Amino acid sequence: MKEIEINKYNWEVIYTSEERSIVDNLAEGKIIRCFIEDEWLCLTKYDDEIYAFKDKCPHAGASLFRSECKDGKVVCPIHRYGFDLKTGRGHGLYLENYPVILHDDKYWIGFKKNFLGF
Ligand code: FES
Repeated sequence: MKEIEINKYNWEVIYTSEERSIVDNLAEGKIIRCFIEDEWLCLTKYDDEIYAFKDKCPHAGASLFRSECKDGKVVCPIHRYGFDLKTGRGHGLYLENYPVILHDDKYWIGFKKNFLGF
């Protein structure tokens, strides 16, 4: 189980209690997308944890929705760069990622607060 500093993030519901089965039943390595805060984010499951990341490769901006996820990495379909699902690191670049939690029967995604705490 990953440790998350809850107070460092602003949390948004991405799947309500009626929709949570979409995430509950997500197969390992399969990628789904959700649209939130004016952008597409991808979600996948690895080792029974849910990971969320921006649907935009940090190399040249390709969509990662049709990527392959294996061995804890999301592999971009364009130039095959792999990015670690936990850290976002890969090829000297960082894939923007977001924590996901199940709370109050809903899935929430965390957006890091800025230095002023907003
Ligand atoms: S666009 Fe993703 S690796 Fe180049």
